[in-house]
Amino acid sequence: MRIVYLSELDVEDYNALRRSAGWAPVHPAQARAGLDGSALVVAAQSEGKTVGTARVVWDGGPAALIKDVLVLPEYRGQGIGSEMVRRLLAFLESKLEPGYAISVDLMASEGREAFYERLGFSRRPRERRGPGMDLVLKKAPHSGE
Ligand SMILES: CC(C)(COP(=O)(O)OP(=O)(O)OC[C@H]1O[C@@H](n2cnc3c(N)ncnc32)[C@H](O)[C@@H]1OP(=O)(O)O)[C@@H](O)C(=O)NCCC(=O)NCCS
Repeated sequence: MRIVYLSELDVEDYNALRRSAGWAPVHPAQARAGLDGSALVVAAQSEGKTVGTARVVWDGGPAALIKDVLVLPEYRGQGIGSEMVRRLLAFLESKLEPGYAISVDLMASEGREAFYERLGFSRRPRERRGPGMDLVLKKAPHSGE
């Protein structure tokens, strides 16, 4: 099966991929802002159908965050997820000048640690590096939405 990798993704496909993994969809306006605000979005297509995505948020300097690594269940195990993450890392590597370093963070879903280790990531916590932490800020939808 030939997979084509593009750098654009629409909100409907983004939320369909999230739902396929059991993740809550994102408000469409916020999803659009998140995709537009990413330094790079990778979308995997098979015969015109979007089957995977991954994106990186990068500050242009030393900090980057990989988000939303998703492959439709029936397309998993064929190397698509790995290829998308490799493309994000290659993009960041292309921005390195002599003496530069970029710290690439991500929050691995439970059981996905080995997948990321094969791509070069290290688990936390480890010596002198504590666990990642997170906080979700939310506002209730308007009544009637
Ligand atoms: C995590 C995820 C993106 C991986 O996508 P994928 O396309 O299946 O990834 P790959 O095919 O590159 O690698 C996945 C597995 O297939 C194996 N694999 C890789 N290439 C393969 C190939 N050519 N043939 C068979 N198996 C292969 C890998 O060894 C890997 O094994 P693992 O399950 O022990 O990690 C996908 O499982 C997914 O969408 N999960 C739900 C969402 C999620 O958890 N995202 C990560 C959030 S941090």
